[in-house]
Amino acid sequence: MKTIKDIDIKDKIILVRVDYNVPLKNGEITDDLRIRASLPTLEYLLDHGAKQIFLISHLGRPEGQPNSELSLSPITKVLEKLLPKAKIGFYPLPTNQESLHVPADTKIALLENLRFDPGEETNSPEFIESIVKATGADIYVQDGFAVVHRAHASTDAIQNFLPIYAGLLVESEVNNLSSVLKNPAKPVLLIIGGAKVEDKQPLIDKFLTKADRIFVGGKIAADGYQSSDAKIVVATDFDENEKNEKLDVGPLSTGELASLITDANTIIWNGLLGYAEDPAYATASTIAAELIGEKRGVTTIVCGGDTTGFVENLIEEHENLHYSLVSTGGGAALEFLLGKELPGLKPFLP
Ligand code: 3PG
Repeated sequence: MKTIKDIDIKDKIILVRVDYNVPLKNGEITDDLRIRASLPTLEYLLDHGAKQIFLISHLGRPEGQPNSELSLSPITKVLEKLLPKAKIGFYPLPTNQESLHVPADTKIALLENLRFDPGEETNSPEFIESIVKATGADIYVQDGFAVVHRAHASTDAIQNFLPIYAGLLVESEVNNLSSVLKNPAKPVLLIIGGAKVEDKQPLIDKFLTKADRIFVGGKIAADGYQSSDAKIVVATDFDENEKNEKLDVGPLSTGELASLITDANTIIWNGLLGYAEDPAYATASTIAAELIGEKRGVTTIVCGGDTTGFVENLIEEHENLHYSLVSTGGGAALEFLLGKELPGLKPFLP
């Protein structure tokens, strides 16, 4: 992979595609994983003498219309806190290829939500060219792993306009996710939870040949998921509420999962095992997260928005928990694991 470590950054103007599509509640960012995950690249570029960094991202689905509730401006404050050494500014999307006037001492300029312009989602070359020209960028860095499955102007059409390098987040996501597809250390354990069987079945199918064991919990198991494949262990006992709704994997099946985790040398976890928003039904997910996070010397990958959010909260409370990758890519990580071609990664993969 051609990454930012392969070029001379000094005095370059760099356009960086990040994914700051973060969850917001009443204007507050409720999970900043994706912002923190962009820091290694930004720090690297600053430390290696970048002249200016232009950050581009989308937020939500404004469908080509400006929408103040989906402005990226609240991200500026978060970045200022996380990167106190750099002066950061916020700018509207440039129109008509006019130069953006960013003072020389502003090291990072975050641009407004790309999806306020219809050209982003229609993959318009004219739209992205106007951003390239207005910023005067010398190179483009793809570091928005979570959006590489979209063929949009800032992930796809951009490839015709600038030399392209991967950022450190994209490098880490691709290397970790690839490692479980190519020669993973055995035994390989896939843990599946969540609610929608139609989303999870392709992953189960894909891993039937790669995994040694597949554990199925979550609402899928509670709803009666069945398999005759000997590799697949489906949770059989559940914690229920007073209405007899099965809301968490019960102690017997959690014990079985615990011994699968103990034996495994590669673990991929996608989907919560119970209705973990309610702490009363977060037991199986907590036990799994702790056992996985306490393992050392093995590859452990957590993916899927709910699962990564849950694990991130636990990491904040327990510093001893460590995972090879808490993926920032929801849909992108799944598509990568399924072996799909991802437009934003085209320049990097064979
Ligand atoms: C995501 O959150 O999965 C990415 O940011 C892509 O967002 P989208 O599903 O709205 O394209």
